[in-house]
Amino acid sequence: MATADVTVRDARVSDLPAIFAIYNEQVLHGTATFDTEVKELPRDEAWLTARDLSRHPVIVAELDGRVAAWGSLSQWSARCAYARAAEESVYVHEDFRGRGLGRVVLEALIERGRRAGLGVLLARIAEGNPASIALHERVGFRRIGTMRRVGEKFGRILDVELMDLHLDGG
Ligand SMILES: CC(C)(COP(=O)(O)OP(=O)(O)OC[C@H]1O[C@@H](n2cnc3c(N)ncnc32)[C@H](O)[C@@H]1OP(=O)(O)O)[C@@H](O)C(=O)NCCC(=O)NCCS
Repeated sequence: MATADVTVRDARVSDLPAIFAIYNEQVLHGTATFDTEVKELPRDEAWLTARDLSRHPVIVAELDGRVAAWGSLSQWSARCAYARAAEESVYVHEDFRGRGLGRVVLEALIERGRRAGLGVLLARIAEGNPASIALHERVGFRRIGTMRRVGEKFGRILDVELMDLHLDGG
């Protein structure tokens, strides 16, 4: 796949079924998210429509008119002094992994974070996800610590790796 074939754009409400399908695969079968309840319409439309999209965008990568991946920046904490930090998420449909889409989405999110004036992006990566660690390292994230045994899914207790990328050179 040439990344030139990929269109990266802001997500629309009409993309939510595809976005949620990609996400729900990990809700139900993976540990990339610690959510255990699927996202569905109309209940979860506000996940997109109620956010401050200028600071916390949701973007999609389209391939042949199909949403193949998506990513977002989200509020790290509701406590205002954390406003310069955002949590980054990226999910690629299982049929399209390993072809550079994750990197395209993550690089676009970094650019969006810079433009919004964010200071730092954070990623939480559950243990056993070498693809995600590799992806984040490739674009400059550093490992800053391990939150030990903070999660439990499918009967397994899980560590979470914390990674950061400073957009302001700090
Ligand atoms: C993690 C994920 C987003 C990576 O996206 P992807 O499109 O498969 O990754 P890419 O093809 O863009 O690869 C990015 C880099 O990571 C490396 N990489 C990808 N998969 C890898 C793997 N399984 N092991 C080691 N390195 C890997 C690639 O070599 C590439 O490096 P390069 O640009 O130097 O060649 C994707 O696998 C995914 O959606 N997984 C399920 C959801 C998830 O884990 N999301 C992250 C939550 S923290």
